[in-house]
Amino acid sequence: MSSINKIVILGSGLMGHGIAQISAMAGYRVALRDVEKSYLDKGMDRIKWSLDKLVEKQKLTQIDADRIYGRIDPVLDLRDALFDADLLIEAVPEDMNLKRKVYEEVDKYADSKTIYASNTSTLPITEIGALTSRPEHFVGLHFFNPPQLMQLVEVIPGQATSQSTTDLAINFIQKLGKQPILCHKDVVGFIVNRIFIPLVHEAVYSQERNGISMTRIDSAVKFKLLFPMGIFELADYTGLDVIYKATVEMHSRDKTVINPHHKIKQLFDEGKLGQKSGRGFYDYRGENYERIKLSPEEGDKYDPINLLSVAANNASWLISNNVCDRVNLERALKLGMGLKGDLFLTIEKVGINKVIQNLYQMADKFGSFYKPNEYLLNYATK
Ligand code: 3HC
Repeated sequence: MSSINKIVILGSGLMGHGIAQISAMAGYRVALRDVEKSYLDKGMDRIKWSLDKLVEKQKLTQIDADRIYGRIDPVLDLRDALFDADLLIEAVPEDMNLKRKVYEEVDKYADSKTIYASNTSTLPITEIGALTSRPEHFVGLHFFNPPQLMQLVEVIPGQATSQSTTDLAINFIQKLGKQPILCHKDVVGFIVNRIFIPLVHEAVYSQERNGISMTRIDSAVKFKLLFPMGIFELADYTGLDVIYKATVEMHSRDKTVINPHHKIKQLFDEGKLGQKSGRGFYDYRGENYERIKLSPEEGDKYDPINLLSVAANNASWLISNNVCDRVNLERALKLGMGLKGDLFLTIEKVGINKVIQNLYQMADKFGSFYKPNEYLLNYATK
């Protein structure tokens, strides 16, 4: 592990800039690479904003913040960026054709010692690894937005990934001061996105089927289901481009994982990408971090049982398919999405039989996507 000194991050967007920042905060030298200077400038501005926040909150001194900023080198030339890199973390948009092009180019210039990692949120690690010259030295490292604040990193070995590469990845994440959780199977959406992305669609269905306002649904999600943000708010914060692309990739590989609502594609097509474009589900004043006003009183007026049921079903799928155990599922939701309580405790509080009955009713009305998972049924009989 001591052999990792220089890291190259490909892509300076929402995730790339944050991964560059936390790597520099852990003392690594970082080359942040993008294809246009304006993207790099924006990434470096975001890093500056975040470091200023951490100084303002006395989590860093100004001297440390300056040193961290100085460890990040924004680079346009791929060959320069890759020079002497020990670890590459790719954080380019979720499009297999784009990833293919990127890795083709990377393979031309990368040193033989460079380990490859992808921050893909939904694409199979085995598939991306197969595009590269070194599938055994290729691993999934899935960070959460904002990487500066979220503690979780999912570590996903593909079928060809060597144990030493997985060990190195886990060790690296620990050096960043983050919490790695191993995803035992390379399934679509890994752990957290298998719960999060379908919930965005379900929130739109809830709005439409029950005629409820977004702020009411979001308030119930925040104050009853103990999420730190409402689901519409979180979708806007994550970016509707990310949600849409994740949806397409997940659904094309597994029809049972998600029940897509057309509104997500519509928002994407209209360029309403969420906070970053000023409009998404909600409207925003600018590009800077902004929260939606939600309240317990508003949340009291709505029962988010449909959302809880879908989350419970997907969580059960992950456990019953041995992607992770229940302990790590709860850890992942807390560390990656900031949940303030255990999902299964919330389910128990609401009533496991109520959740199961609700899923049966939804399956009758809206199709087999809602059929309760076996783990959930067995859980009820415990
Ligand atoms: N760097 C430094 N500070 C930051 C920051 C950043 N990148 N982003 C926000 N902050 C600051 C805010 O400006 C705020 O400062 P202020 O008090 O001066 O205004 C401070 O952090 C705290 O913010 P909030 O008051 O809004 O408080 P919260 O307690 O709600 O914390 C949060 C913010 C950590 C973002 C929390 O709301 C949260 O955990 N939200 C859920 C995030 C989540 O689910 N992420 C995962 C999405 S899925 C994903 O990324 C996977 C992908 O593949 C799709």
